[in-house]
Amino acid sequence: MSGNVLTSKLSSGYELPMIGLGTYARKAEPGQYCQAVEWGIETGYRHIDTASCYKNEVEVGEGITKKINQGIVSRSDLFITTKLWNDSHARADVIPALKSSLSNLKLDYVDLYLIHWPVSVNDKGVDTGIDFVETWKGMEEAVKLGLAKSIGVSNFNEDQLERLMKNSNIKPAVNQIEINPTLSQHKLVNFCKERSVVPVAYTPLGLISEARPEFIGKDIIKTDSKLGELAKKYGKTRAQIALRYLVQRGVPVLPKSFTKSRIEENFNIFDFNLDEQAMAVVDSYNINHRCVPGSDFAKFKFYPF
Ligand SMILES: NC(=O)c1ccc[n+]([C@@H]2O[C@H](COP(=O)([O-])OP(=O)(O)OC[C@H]3O[C@@H](n4cnc5c(N)ncnc54)[C@H](OP(=O)(O)O)[C@@H]3O)[C@@H](O)[C@H]2O)c1
Repeated sequence: MSGNVLTSKLSSGYELPMIGLGTYARKAEPGQYCQAVEWGIETGYRHIDTASCYKNEVEVGEGITKKINQGIVSRSDLFITTKLWNDSHARADVIPALKSSLSNLKLDYVDLYLIHWPVSVNDKGVDTGIDFVETWKGMEEAVKLGLAKSIGVSNFNEDQLERLMKNSNIKPAVNQIEINPTLSQHKLVNFCKERSVVPVAYTPLGLISEARPEFIGKDIIKTDSKLGELAKKYGKTRAQIALRYLVQRGVPVLPKSFTKSRIEENFNIFDFNLDEQAMAVVDSYNINHRCVPGSDFAKFKFYPF
């Protein structure tokens, strides 16, 4: 499978693919990130999402380089996102942090650079309270230097996004946030869209993913017969229904997998349409449950949730 995945137009003028490969893992064997990226590109993924704090940029870069060298894709076919970690929020730290990511990835530029969280922290894990409006000035410099084509944020709430929009020259193109059937986020999604900020869904499988055993008890979505019937009706899996639901809401998705068959399964969501009733069924699983609450930062000045 290869080819043209639908895209979402960013305020920067660039196009962001509606599906990207997530690459965060708590644990990985050596080579696993590289292998996933290679399978992803072979499958047709053109967007890869990484971050400096995932400590996988070197391997992700290896996967990208291999596929470019094999002539499967060229750099301009790809959309690479990475993120500024919370310990580099001082304005003067942004460009050095980005240059370090680029060197890890072996790239000259990223397509999208995000402030990973609105909170800032020092190397002892203490809140430094640096205002993200200051950080953003460094992000704008990244665009001027040609090191990032587009810039955006992640895990920002409405007030934070609004304040940043009012105090910036280049507007954030994206807000990457957790969105899935059990955290449907209609309010924040609409808020972003009204301001031409594309809401991108991380953890798009939410409680459908088998990776979240800690939420046993809340995971009815894995077994509920209504969703099972829908999956059967469309000849798809629960995961595909969840991803399709987001894409139909105009929300690009970033499913992560290390499993070749799942990387392919998650990509295979562009040949069917959920009808209104089916969309409502998926929507009905919302319980406003966060898989990624960022609890370590709960007491921080700029904690978003
Ligand atoms: N900006 C942020 O703060 C932030 C936070 C979290 C995540 N992210 C980004 O978003 C990406 C995705 O989020 P995520 O990794 O938390 O969650 P996710 O993509 O919703 O779920 C990933 C988990 O689901 C499993 N899985 C994948 N496809 C499946 C399928 N078809 N059926 C059943 N299980 C499946 C994977 O297992 P296997 O790998 O074993 O196949 C993996 O354990 C991350 O990798 C990262 O790039 C960003």
